[in-house]
Amino acid sequence: MTEIQDAPLDDQTLRELREIAARYPQARSGLLPMLHLVQSVEGRVTSRGIEACADILGISAAEVSGVATFYTMYKRRPVGDYHVGVCTNTLCAVMGGDAIFERLKDHLDVGNDETTEDGKITLEHVECNAACDYAPVVMVNWEFMDNQTPASATRLVDDLREGKEVRSTRGPRICSWRDAERVLAGFPDDRADEGPAAGPASLVGLGIARERGWTAPSSERRGVGPGSPADTAIGAAKTADSSHAEAETRIAESDAKTVGEDAGGSSSGSTTDKQED
Ligand code: FES
Repeated sequence: MTEIQDAPLDDQTLRELREIAARYPQARSGLLPMLHLVQSVEGRVTSRGIEACADILGISAAEVSGVATFYTMYKRRPVGDYHVGVCTNTLCAVMGGDAIFERLKDHLDVGNDETTEDGKITLEHVECNAACDYAPVVMVNWEFMDNQTPASATRLVDDLREGKEVRSTRGPRICSWRDAERVLAGFPDDRADEGPAAGPASLVGLGIARERGWTAPSSERRGVGPGSPADTAIGAAKTADSSHAEAETRIAESDAKTVGEDAGGSSSGSTTDKQED
């Protein structure tokens, strides 16, 4: 059923959204954490959350909506108490990720990006989490659960549904999805130092390098003199940088024009979003 949300966000949330925007030299750089804060309060990115971000940043609701619909971590449908992401990218898939995903769909009786009837678990297949050394990987609220099997993943979701304490294999105790979203908005929960962090498989390369005395190349190294291949590469990078700066200036000018037009006219994104909700 669609939900009409006319009331603005509560005062504390608005205050915190402004606080996030104020952290950055360019306020609009705060949009990503601001959207995480909206999710932590609303359980998803809502129309009123979009309107609030647009208002605070002085940009259009369409621009905020464009960001919120581009990144997969922003959800337009309500997420359950726990977001369970199963990596089904190539390596995890062949190591058992596909089997885990199929088992969980069956066990939870949901499809991809759906939430269980009790509102506890939202299941989604996710792309590579850069944790391939522990494949197949499942994530709960973006915390790693390494080396999973269909049986261990089933136990994991059962424990979450029963409210048992669950710990990430390389991180902290698992909190709720909304609490995790608040951390992503930049309000720490003091669990950052819990858990072992990097595991042995991720450190094998470092161990080998230390054993053999290998170090990362330094820019002071021989071969960075005038006319050297490295010097030519640096020159090319500088040229690319200046073209990039010119392109950014053009984008900024066009942004200013768009914002000016938005301020003078109606906000098309806002209308569209209200229809969606
Ligand atoms: S393929 Fe799953 S973490 Fe890389």
